[in-house]
Amino acid sequence: MKFFIDTANVDQIREAAELGVLDGVTTNPTLLSREKGAFRDILKEICSIVPGPVSAEVLSLEADGMVKEGKELCKIADNIIIKVPCIREGIKAIGRFNAEGIKTNATLCFSANQGLLVAKAGATYVSPFVGRIDDVGSPGLDLVSDLITIFDNYSYASEVIVSSIRSVQHVYEAALMGADVATIPLKVIEQLIKHPLTDVGIEKFLADWEKVEK
Ligand code: E4P
Repeated sequence: MKFFIDTANVDQIREAAELGVLDGVTTNPTLLSREKGAFRDILKEICSIVPGPVSAEVLSLEADGMVKEGKELCKIADNIIIKVPCIREGIKAIGRFNAEGIKTNATLCFSANQGLLVAKAGATYVSPFVGRIDDVGSPGLDLVSDLITIFDNYSYASEVIVSSIRSVQHVYEAALMGADVATIPLKVIEQLIKHPLTDVGIEKFLADWEKVEK
């Protein structure tokens, strides 16, 4: 499973990158709005920290505008991926980006049919927002499972990025399903590392080591 970090905060990205298990980054307008500085400078810095894919989202709601914005974003760095919403115009834009060899991340995916359409259009990645689906009372991870099955049924090349992750349980279940990527907030990455029995075990080993003759 590939690990992306879901933030635009460069300190958090550096911290996660130091672990050596970070494969990419996803940003969105909300995440960028929390940071200081021009968004292009922030994205450029992120791309210099992480060599893997860095998603940057278009704001236009029309295919022409999306393509224009996406091409501008691509100038920031070679590892920029264009995030496009799963709407009618987004499907058109994804097809056009795909034809030009520009990689895309189909974002705000809330149904298997949306995922089917964007995969057919040639999206490089598809992002089901599991936490937001949980928030409205449906099991978000069911969509991940559906997308994995559908992409497998038709040998679509699109990779599933499990998004809007809120807990270690989301990561665990997505990994069991074989999801390609999880984009995870730093807080949850840190929770993945921790287990109380590991801490207790270390404490005991260190205490016992004091009794060993040296
Ligand atoms: C994914 O690419 C999105 O940036 C993100 O996962 C959204 O998550 P949220 O529901 O926590 O805003």
